[in-house]
Amino acid sequence: MHSVSDYYSAIQLRADRWSALRDVTSALTEESSEKRLSTLQKKADDLFQSLALIEPYWAFPGMAAFEHMRRQFAHGNFEDLAFSVGRVTRALSTGAYRRRNIPLERDSLDNEEHDDEAQLSPEARALSKPYFEVLIVDNVGEDQERWLRSNMARMRRPEDQFAYQALVVPSLEDALIAVLFNYNIQAIVVRPGLTLRSKMEQPILHKYLDRAGGSEQFEEMQPEDYGPELCRLIARARPELDAYLITERSVEDIAGHDLGICRRVFYNQEDFLELHLNILRGVQSRFKTPFFTALVEYSKQPTGVFHAMPISRGKSISRSHWIQDMGAFYGPNIFLAETSATSGGLDSLLEPHGPIKRAQELASRAFGSKQTFFATNGTSTCNKIVVQALVSPGDIVLVDRDCHKSHHYGMVLAGAQVVYLDSYPLNEYSMYGAVPLREIKQQLLKLKAAGKLDRVRMLLLTNCTFDGVVYNVERVMEECLAIKPDLIFLWDEAWFAFARFNPTYRQRTAMHAAAELRGRFKTDKHLAAYEKQQAELADADDETLLNTRLIPPPDARVRAYATQSTHKTLTSLRQGSMIHVNDQDFKGEVEQSFHEAYMTHTSTSPNYQIIASLDVGRRQVELEGFEFVQRQVEAAMSMRRSIATHPLLKKYFRVLTAGDMIPEGHRESGVTSYFDAEQGWTDMWDCWQQDEFALDPTRVTLAVGGTGWDGDTFKTEILMDRYGIQINKTSRNTVLFMTNIGTTRSSVAYLIEVLVEIAKGLDDLLDDASRMERLGFDRRVKNLMEDLPPLPDFSRFHDAFRTDQGTSEGDIRSAFFLSYEGDNCDYMELDGSLKQALDSGQEVVSAGFIIPYPPGFPILVPGQVVSSEILAFMRALDVNEIHGYRADLGLRVFTPEALAKHAESNLITAAK
Ligand SMILES: Cc1ncc(COP(=O)(O)O)c(C=O)c1O
Repeated sequence: MHSVSDYYSAIQLRADRWSALRDVTSALTEESSEKRLSTLQKKADDLFQSLALIEPYWAFPGMAAFEHMRRQFAHGNFEDLAFSVGRVTRALSTGAYRRRNIPLERDSLDNEEHDDEAQLSPEARALSKPYFEVLIVDNVGEDQERWLRSNMARMRRPEDQFAYQALVVPSLEDALIAVLFNYNIQAIVVRPGLTLRSKMEQPILHKYLDRAGGSEQFEEMQPEDYGPELCRLIARARPELDAYLITERSVEDIAGHDLGICRRVFYNQEDFLELHLNILRGVQSRFKTPFFTALVEYSKQPTGVFHAMPISRGKSISRSHWIQDMGAFYGPNIFLAETSATSGGLDSLLEPHGPIKRAQELASRAFGSKQTFFATNGTSTCNKIVVQALVSPGDIVLVDRDCHKSHHYGMVLAGAQVVYLDSYPLNEYSMYGAVPLREIKQQLLKLKAAGKLDRVRMLLLTNCTFDGVVYNVERVMEECLAIKPDLIFLWDEAWFAFARFNPTYRQRTAMHAAAELRGRFKTDKHLAAYEKQQAELADADDETLLNTRLIPPPDARVRAYATQSTHKTLTSLRQGSMIHVNDQDFKGEVEQSFHEAYMTHTSTSPNYQIIASLDVGRRQVELEGFEFVQRQVEAAMSMRRSIATHPLLKKYFRVLTAGDMIPEGHRESGVTSYFDAEQGWTDMWDCWQQDEFALDPTRVTLAVGGTGWDGDTFKTEILMDRYGIQINKTSRNTVLFMTNIGTTRSSVAYLIEVLVEIAKGLDDLLDDASRMERLGFDRRVKNLMEDLPPLPDFSRFHDAFRTDQGTSEGDIRSAFFLSYEGDNCDYMELDGSLKQALDSGQEVVSAGFIIPYPPGFPILVPGQVVSSEILAFMRALDVNEIHGYRADLGLRVFTPEALAKHAESNLITAAK
């Protein structure tokens, strides 16, 4: 039997154990041989024992039913047992227990038809009441537990919008396990009788408690503090939940506590109706979708359309003789919901006062920001809005060079002086990692030494990177603020919107880190640590500062922005994105310019369907983000495990691990892989807590060079053309499989099947291959795996675009516009004039962005000097798509005259 550490989470563990129990109990009914019977009984007993550690944390089937099944087993009543276990297993896998009572007795009449949630029509599912579980924390006996549960059950009314079941656990520790394991829990009722410790022996528990701050802290806690402390701890694990604290203490006494997620305190009362109504209202406040609901309502109203949009209400389609198929394909609702009206219950994205405003406020709560803004043109637009709102011409911005192109264009638009930061390269896989903190600090210290720190405005990084490298966001902000206490951070979280909904991921998000820092900077402990370090670092040189974990002054300003492509990782229509803000100076300093920037980039006809989907996507994550992200990680983990352990797959493929993608020096935990059997899943927490970089395991990079195909060929000719599997990122010898919250276990199984088939095909091919064919294959593999061109660093901006030589910032905007004048530019052939020019020591300067796909970010920007490493890389590139480069003409560069003229005009401007 698998041990707990074999599973990423208890969800899969539980499902697998119930299925195993179903198989064993059904075999028990048919077995006659004594020996085999005893083996089966032993198996069943083990499974019952392991389920006994998990079942107390779930309302269905509930401990009473579970104990009943154990008694059936003990009494050898296998027929009844097999029936009950079969029912439970089926109800768990179909989700039927969410909709109705599941009778477990054999003589009960039950219609199992249409049980499967996934098989129900969307309309039928929309009509059934959403289900959740309420966790009651109280150390009560069986009778009292029954009394509690029946009192809660009695409060149900037909008009309730949701249905719930209650489960009872005795202690603070059990409650923490429950909220971590049971994704159905939406509300917690903490009663005065709770105890501290769990009686269950759960190794996982101790790791979790360590995350929450260590169980030693409990030693000094008084029993009356258990309740408030539990509310605080749950807030760290699942901040979206609601807790209700029932206490015997006085109001004044409770008022001083940090009550975390506690929505309401009840003083020593047993008013179950009040509790019931509060629980429903709490869930309703996450369920409500102001804009989506407004749009649905609007679409029901009969309105005459006397404004733009003939497609509104489908009029131009229904009257058409030629485009009826469009109407048939999309159905009527989408057209009923298409309108350019901003009144009549709707709202304007550009100036929201109604349901869009409320939807944004809810999103802000869900994502832990101070302000959230929706965008209907992707994170590409969000990035430009944030940069334009915060950066004025001449401001220095430190930018991760391999960031998305929208940032580079943002720099051009804002007229920033750009300092490009280099990520560590992963030459073996032709991809970049992320920017080491040391490099960032070094640049800041250089700027400080040059007296330019006051002009430094922003640091812009991608978290996480396309390939899944994740920054230690809190640490980066902390140490940078220690050098420049009002630095603004723009974290491009295009790929990281889901991260908020899992405690491990959450700690590395911008909004979480910003909130943590704001809280921490106010503490006396922080002040003392800061003062102590200041005294120690009084005469420190730069090397010491680089080697020290710097502490920022308590009055440092926390100014963080995160842009997220909701559509990439959560439920939203394409282009649905959000900007999240936690900036202490937003209201005073930024609000107006943000508004202007928002106006600059936002269409005056934003798509309502996108906005509505953002609203609904927010509802989903607040209610089931925790479950979906957990399942996603689980699917990715099982994919990693299957590929790594399959004997045939191992021959041709390799899943890259944290050890492959993050150099040792940036992985302080020393952990190289998150999924092997010995380490178990919780180890991921340790790396995510301490390492400079962590790897997001949901992005699975597969080295495919061993197949003799390069990444691009593998993607298009094998995966896409032969098997219809789509992916969107490759490198020379890797392909990236991204899982998301929609990834199922069966889609993972399909992928594994396909990979096995490909590997079998290769095996057969090589089996029949001639010596020459074999040599050819080996050479291709070697070429893909070993002979890789080194990835070039950012060279530098040409002097014509720099104000002085001391630091590296460059004026990308003037370079960009200089190229508008055709006479300023020329073309050079890579292997001809360009090579000769470099060989003879001439400086060649790019006139535009050169962006090969992959890797998908500029290897040259306007004004950048072409180095021989860059030329070598371009010559070795065997990708078809290079934006900005014309194979027929060559590389577009500035003429020496244009550069000289520009440099001169710069000098004149500087002299003035
Ligand atoms: C890091 C990063 N930022 C921003 C974007 C742009 O996002 P969107 O497609 O939502 O405009 C992308 C797109 O791939 C990206 O990878």
